Amino acid sequence: MLPHYLKALKDTQSRNASEYSYRTDLKSILKGLTITDEPTKKGKNKIDMEVYTSKGLVSFYIETKKLGEDLSAKKHQEQFERYKKEFKKLVITNFLDFEFYRDAVLIGKCSLADLKTFTSSQSDFDTFNNLLDGFLLDHIKFSNPILLAKKLADKTLLLKKELLNSLITEDQELEQGIKKKFKLLAYRNEFKRMLLNEIDNAQFADLYAQTITYGLFASRYYSFQKDPTSVFKRSDASNLIPNSNPLLKQFFDSISKSSDLDQAINLVIDDITMILSNTDMKDIIANLKLANNDIVIHFYETFLEHYDPALRASMGVWYTPVEVVDYIVKGVDYLLKDKFNIADGISSSEKQDFTYIQNKKTLVKKDVHKVQILDPATGTGNFLNSTINFIKNNFQYPSLWKEYVNKDLIPRLNGFELMMPSYVMAHMKMYELLKDCLNADDRFNIYLTNTLNGSVEIPQTALLSVSDLIYQLHEEALGANRVREEQPVMVIMGNPPYNRDSKNQGEFITDLMKDYYFKGSSGSLNDDYIKFIRYGQHLIEQNGSGVLAYISSNSFLNANTMQNMRKSLLKTFDEIYVLNFTFDSKWNQENVKDRIFTTVKAPVCISFFVKTNKKKQNEFGKVFYTEVKGDRKFKFDYLDQNTLNDDFKEIALIQPEYYFIHQDNDVHKTYITDSFSLETAFKFKSTGVLTSCDALVIDHNENNLKVKVSTYLKTGDLPKGVKDSVKERGQDVKSLSNGKFRKIQYRVFDTRHYFDSSLTDTRVEKLFKEEQAKGQIYLSYKKNCNDKYDFKHTLLTNRIPEYVSFGASAGTVHCSPLYQYHDADMTHAEPYQISNFTQDFTDQITLKIGKDFNDNPIDDTTFSSLDAMDYIYGYLNDKTYTSTYNQFLKSNYPRVPYPKDLDHFESYRLKGNALRSIHLDDSTQDTISKFTATDNKISKVSFNPIDNKLFFNNTSYFDNITNAMWEFKIGASQPLKNWIESRKDDDFDIDMVKEFLNVIYKVRNSIH
Ligand SMILES: C[S@@+](CC[C@H](N)C(=O)[O-])C[C@H]1O[C@@H](n2cnc3c(N)ncnc32)[C@H](O)[C@@H]1O
Repeated sequence: MLPHYLKALKDTQSRNASEYSYRTDLKSILKGLTITDEPTKKGKNKIDMEVYTSKGLVSFYIETKKLGEDLSAKKHQEQFERYKKEFKKLVITNFLDFEFYRDAVLIGKCSLADLKTFTSSQSDFDTFNNLLDGFLLDHIKFSNPILLAKKLADKTLLLKKELLNSLITEDQELEQGIKKKFKLLAYRNEFKRMLLNEIDNAQFADLYAQTITYGLFASRYYSFQKDPTSVFKRSDASNLIPNSNPLLKQFFDSISKSSDLDQAINLVIDDITMILSNTDMKDIIANLKLANNDIVIHFYETFLEHYDPALRASMGVWYTPVEVVDYIVKGVDYLLKDKFNIADGISSSEKQDFTYIQNKKTLVKKDVHKVQILDPATGTGNFLNSTINFIKNNFQYPSLWKEYVNKDLIPRLNGFELMMPSYVMAHMKMYELLKDCLNADDRFNIYLTNTLNGSVEIPQTALLSVSDLIYQLHEEALGANRVREEQPVMVIMGNPPYNRDSKNQGEFITDLMKDYYFKGSSGSLNDDYIKFIRYGQHLIEQNGSGVLAYISSNSFLNANTMQNMRKSLLKTFDEIYVLNFTFDSKWNQENVKDRIFTTVKAPVCISFFVKTNKKKQNEFGKVFYTEVKGDRKFKFDYLDQNTLNDDFKEIALIQPEYYFIHQDNDVHKTYITDSFSLETAFKFKSTGVLTSCDALVIDHNENNLKVKVSTYLKTGDLPKGVKDSVKERGQDVKSLSNGKFRKIQYRVFDTRHYFDSSLTDTRVEKLFKEEQAKGQIYLSYKKNCNDKYDFKHTLLTNRIPEYVSFGASAGTVHCSPLYQYHDADMTHAEPYQISNFTQDFTDQITLKIGKDFNDNPIDDTTFSSLDAMDYIYGYLNDKTYTSTYNQFLKSNYPRVPYPKDLDHFESYRLKGNALRSIHLDDSTQDTISKFTATDNKISKVSFNPIDNKLFFNNTSYFDNITNAMWEFKIGASQPLKNWIESRKDDDFDIDMVKEFLNVIYKVRNSIH
């Protein structure tokens, strides 16, 4: 719209037109509004344009001057002053510069282009649109929650932008040594120090903007509750927020002082306030069709859907479903009664003496509640709320409820939360539940804090006034410190966050995590949910006894790298109850209807860890396990109708992994008896090639790859999707130009060209050395399969595999070459190769089959490395074997039985041999399927199971593809689908057709 407007102005200018002519152009950017030129004179004031909304209400007035004329020129000032007084909302413009006045106060201005060049700036146009939007808001009534959420989301995005600009400017001013109060920076820095060390300006602006909007919505809600006819004003926001939430109250206090903030920020906040004051809360509530208590939360969801859909999906407003929360609360109640003999369970008001060291100096003894409860990842507060509801529903003396709430409930409920918006909501929800019982100065013990940072040092706050936001931030930290250090926490429950790439690397949690470390496993333990389990365990240890109850990812139950974690938990706790949510074998990651959390793919479990101190210190606790399988409704019904019941069966804990899942002991015994692990069969193993810049160094077309690499070497330009950090790694152009073009096994049955240089991972260098061995092949397999597919995670290839060659969701692939390659040395005049099988392994095979091992056989009285590899491959592809031992094959290096005798060896060797010759054959093409094309471009891929055609655009296809072939998978990779989809937008040429027919050949014959 902006370029059109500027072009129109330029054309008009070239006609040497009058001021009137430009008004027609101006109307083009005032779309949807009715404009009257030169309306009736108001006294001495003859305004140029009057603007009406679509409903015929006067919205504002415009005074125009000549194109580009200086608006600050003295000659206009007297007139402008008069107009500002006369017209409540006024725009003064020379068609390029615009000034917006409300009640004679300049609320914003912008310049769309300069007169000489007519160069435009989109950001100024955005400002113009926003100022205009603000002028129209007075006339819009909001009664539909979706429209309201949308409008608020637009404004919050703008607010975020303005806050970010302000932060950047303050950073620069500080650097330049300018002296002023850097309020926003001071908040950011303190926030960073105490809560989120990694937060950057954009994230901080985001958090701040959301808190403002959400807090204002909450205040509007409170104002409506107090008096449905009240007029909502920005200055009222702070007063409306209950005392139980002092941080938010303070936050709004600082926001009501507009002098603390930039003009642009204030403007947006005013618009948000205007939107809310024009909101009909009665209609919004009626339209949300919810109980009052949930309105604020559900509105937040609707809001986030427009504001940041990705955020909603990722970190989410995946608040914990009430069925899960209620199940955990009643489970905790049951355990407190049954295992700790606390008659009133979670409602208990029992007190005990507690001694602690205050300020690292003074020994203090106090009388405190025994059943202190903490949700360390409070989110919107569902666990604390469910606890309140549970207790209230069982409370026998309604007239004493208020007294109980004050004396024995609020002091026992504690919550930690990191994100301001969730924190705000947690407070609001609890307030709704308890507002009738609160005393004026009661505050809830829900604190804004980073749980995993442990106690935080608070600097001297003497210089800060109580009314300062930073002072309140410190108060939050002090409150959280009190819960951590001065209180016995007996119950910890919640739904910790999952983040495999946890940013919480502080000393406190890193120290605690040492108990969980397992050789080379720090990566897989670096998940926030594991750290939250460790933290809960620590608090219970500190207290001496108690219950830790979480819903979390279930990967800790049987991941091999988490065996030390399981051992540590077994040492601390007497009893562990696990309710695992499983899926039937057809389950795949797309099956949303089975998931407990619709947006979280990882399977989950509920666990209760109980420490009563009844077991001896060195003894391991017991694990009781049960599973619930089915769709979400079934699972929720189960939770609703059951508690910690007889479904939980004690499981045998088997060394050294100590899995927390039920394993069939007899089956496990057969699996590990007289069998070998790939870990010990091979001398050398490696992960596949990892680049972190696939888009630059890997391509299915050799020419494309060469062009990309040489462009990068010349210009430093990175293709789309490659992170900038690659540049730093690739700085040494010399070492890059020594790179080699090779081929790798990128995905199952999909070989690609690869530029091997210092840009990519160096860990597989040795693997590339082994590549020189004659007849070299590689066995790829998984050490731990965390995906949802049954064990089918093995492939023989001619090329070194890529890091996730079984599909990105299947995780890291490991591989072992058949041979090792050595340079010439003291005893070898020439380079030479030897078997990569360990001698112990080949000796064992000899013992079983009565043949010696020899890689240069002269007759069939010996067996070779290749024979052994075929035997292994035959076994790992045997359906009976893999389905019987699926669970075990998936949870560590796969194991294979030793052959009983030569016949046994031969039968599997031949199976493996047949499959190997198919999988390593890159030249045979399928002759059953035909390529039929009217257009060679791969655009829309679809498989039609009725006529067995695989279409790659609307008209062209490969025929005779069966459903079984289309669905055939190795690991998470579906070769036919993945090969063709990853070449989208390419045109099939003869070589590509042959290559794909070879993939079809491999798939068809693998099935047979
Ligand atoms: C799964 S949500 C909990 C949902 C909550 N049970 C509810 O129903 O609303 C996890 C929460 O942990 C918070 N969180 C993440 N990391 C945290 C940390 N280090 N300290 C405290 N809270 C954290 C997130 O902001 C999020 O609100």
